[in-house]
Amino acid sequence: MKTLVTKRLILRNLTFSDVEDFYNYAKKPNIGPSAGWKPHQSIEESMRIIRMMITENEVWGITLKEVDRVIGTIGLHVRNFDNAMLNQKEIGYVIDDTYWGQGLMVEAVEAVLRYAFIDLELDKVLCGHSTANLQSKRVVEKTNFIYTHKEFRDHYDGTQIEIIMYELTKDMYLGGTNDKSKTEIRL
Ligand SMILES: CC(C)(COP(=O)(O)OP(=O)(O)OC[C@H]1O[C@@H](n2cnc3c(N)ncnc32)[C@H](O)[C@@H]1OP(=O)(O)O)[C@@H](O)C(=O)NCCC(=O)NCCS
Repeated sequence: MKTLVTKRLILRNLTFSDVEDFYNYAKKPNIGPSAGWKPHQSIEESMRIIRMMITENEVWGITLKEVDRVIGTIGLHVRNFDNAMLNQKEIGYVIDDTYWGQGLMVEAVEAVLRYAFIDLELDKVLCGHSTANLQSKRVVEKTNFIYTHKEFRDHYDGTQIEIIMYELTKDMYLGGTNDKSKTEIRL
């Protein structure tokens, strides 16, 4: 995976030594549930999830340029057979609440979109958020995704939850208004 560099962020590979920083926000009650997962109960649980993310090789750790500490994650996920066949992936993201409201996730999403369309040459990137998640809705709007449909997905508590789905195609991206100059990519 390439390291992606934006104005304020470095998106890099996760390592096992990130586990304490990951657990510090993954245990909070207002982070995971908005993204569909249960707050982590122990550092061992965070270690299992980090191992999974490293193995899948599709998740970046989000760090601020000035300090190499993971404050969130962002990933491109295949999720299902249809996506694999259609050369598309779904983007997912989380950032520690200490850093909310600074536009950092918009910056991270823009970097990953550039990587998705220019490097991976994906045809489409999908994104979804729960109906109640207005913060994620704003990220989606600010990164030019287009609404497609609603669907129900399993929530960690065993219920089904309504997810609002969006897409961005390569054509829309290349002809669109995303300011690609904000993002550089380095190996
Ligand atoms: C959704 C999330 C990634 C947004 O990240 P972010 O870097 O804060 O994004 P932004 O700075 O662009 O802020 C998004 C909106 O949230 C609002 N916001 C910021 N802090 C907030 C807070 N404490 N409470 C409510 N809204 C807040 C901002 O005002 C902004 O809206 P605006 O552009 O109209 O002003 C982040 O809130 C998060 O990780 N939430 C928990 C996990 C999650 O929901 N992941 C997405 C799953 S689909």
